[in-house]
Amino acid sequence: MSVLRVKPIEALMSETSGGEHSLKRVLGAGDLIMLAIGAVIGAGIFGSIGSAAAGQLGPNGEVIRYGAGPALVLSFVLLGACCALAGLCYAELASMIPQAGSAYAYSYATLGELVAWIIGWDLILEYAVGNVAVAISWGDYLKSLLNGWIAMPEWLTTGYRTALLSSDPAVHGMLDRAPHIGSMPILINVPAFGIVMAITWLLLRGAKESTRANNIMVAVKLLVLGVFIIGGLTHINTANYTPFAPNGFTGIHQGAAIVFFAYIGFDAISTAAEETKNPQRNLPIGILGGLAICTVIYIIIGAVLTGMVPAAELGKSADPLAFALNASGMQSLAKIVALGAIFSMAAVLLVFQYGQPRIFFAMGRDGLLPKWIAKVDEKTRIPYTATLLTGVFVAVWSLIGDAAETYDLTNIGTLFAFVLVCIGVIVLRHTDPTRKRPFRVPFVHVVGIVGAGMCIFVMKGLPAIAWERFGWWLVIGLVIYVLYGYRNSKLNRAK
Ligand code: ALA
Repeated sequence: MSVLRVKPIEALMSETSGGEHSLKRVLGAGDLIMLAIGAVIGAGIFGSIGSAAAGQLGPNGEVIRYGAGPALVLSFVLLGACCALAGLCYAELASMIPQAGSAYAYSYATLGELVAWIIGWDLILEYAVGNVAVAISWGDYLKSLLNGWIAMPEWLTTGYRTALLSSDPAVHGMLDRAPHIGSMPILINVPAFGIVMAITWLLLRGAKESTRANNIMVAVKLLVLGVFIIGGLTHINTANYTPFAPNGFTGIHQGAAIVFFAYIGFDAISTAAEETKNPQRNLPIGILGGLAICTVIYIIIGAVLTGMVPAAELGKSADPLAFALNASGMQSLAKIVALGAIFSMAAVLLVFQYGQPRIFFAMGRDGLLPKWIAKVDEKTRIPYTATLLTGVFVAVWSLIGDAAETYDLTNIGTLFAFVLVCIGVIVLRHTDPTRKRPFRVPFVHVVGIVGAGMCIFVMKGLPAIAWERFGWWLVIGLVIYVLYGYRNSKLNRAK
C-alpha cells in the first residue's frame, strides 16, 4: 500500500548536501547541550509544577487532576526514566538520520509515509502548541516581576480561556469585569503575544545569532535556579513533607502527566540535526547530556519547593516558585527568580520557534505540505516562510489561550511521538539491520518496548478531555493527508 511507502535514507541524506532546500552546518556539541537546556528548563518547572504538586480544580470545583504533593520528586524520577529511554531511541535515529524534521524524518524512513505524516502533524502539538503554554507562563512571570512597580490592566494580560476555566473566583470574575464588545468580554494576553513576535524576529535574523542569544539565556537560568535552591534550603519546614503522597500513586501519576511538560525539549535539538557539525557524535551527547542535567535539577527543585510551603498552596498561583519565595518572606529573591524565569522561558520559546519551522520545512520539501513552506532564504539559509507562519500561529493562540489546557494537549502529543520513536528504532533494526549506526541503543528491544510502555502509562495520567482533543487533532490531520499530502507527496510524483 502506498501510504506505507518509506523514504529511502539515501534520499534523506542527499537532500542535506546542498541546494536551495538545504541548511547550513554550524552547530557543535556544546551548542546542542545549551540548546537542550534552553528548550527543557522553562514553563514546566516554573509554571506547571504548581498544579502537579497541588492538583487542579475546574470552575465548578470538579477535580481535573490530583496532585502529587511532596511525592512530586517521585514523579520526576518516573519521568526521568521514561525520557531517558525515549532519549536513547531519539539519539540512535538522530545520529543515523541527521536531518531536519526530528521524529518526522525518522519515521518517514522507518514506519512509512502515513505514520510520518501523523508524527509531523502531532509534533505541531509539541512545538507550536507547547510554545503557547510557555508564552502564557512567560506573561505570568512578567506580571509577577512587575507587580508593585507597574500595574498592567488585567484584561490585557489574561487570556479569555484562562478566565473561563479558572476555579479561582477572582480570575473567573474577569469574564464580567473585562470590557465587552456586545456580550463578548475582551480578555487578551498582550505580553504573551509580544514575546512570541519578538522571538520570531530574532529567528528570522539567522540561526547562529539565535544560538548565541540562547547560550546567554541558559547561563542566566542556571544561575537563577541556583539562587532559588540556596534561598529555599534556608526556609525548609520538614512538617511540609507529611503527608508525603496525599493522593497516593494516583497523585504521583497525574502530577507526572502534567509536569512532563518540564521534560519536553531534549528531543527538540534533533530538529537541528541538519545544521549540526559531526552529528553522529554530537547529537547523542547533546540529547542525553542535556536530559541528565535537567533531571537532577528538577528533583532538587521539587524537593526544595515542597519543603518551603504546603503542597496544596502551590496551585494558587501561576508562578509557584516566586510564590513560595514570597510566602517564605524572601521578596527580593522572588523578583530575581521571576526575572530568571522570564529569561528561561524566552530561551524555550526560541528553541521551539526554531524547531517547528524546520519540521514544516521537511514536510514541505517532501510534498506533504505545500512547497512554499520549504523555501529557504538565499543569504541566511533560514526557512523564513515557515518561521513567520509559526510565529503568527503561536502568537495569536497565546493571546486568548490557557496554560494548563495547552500543557495537557502538548504532553499527549509529545508522548505519542515518543511512543512512535521507541517503536521505530526497533522496526528499523529489523528492516535495515546493516546500516551504520554511530550510536546504538543498548538492549534495544527492552529499551524501546519499556520506553513506549512508560510513555503510554504517563499519557494515561492526563484528563479525558486531553484524549478527546488529541483524537480530533489526529482526525483533522488524516483528512488533510488524504486530501493533500497523499497526492502531492514527492514519493507519489516520483513513481
Ligand atoms: N520543557 C519546556 C518547558 O518546560 C517545554 O517550558
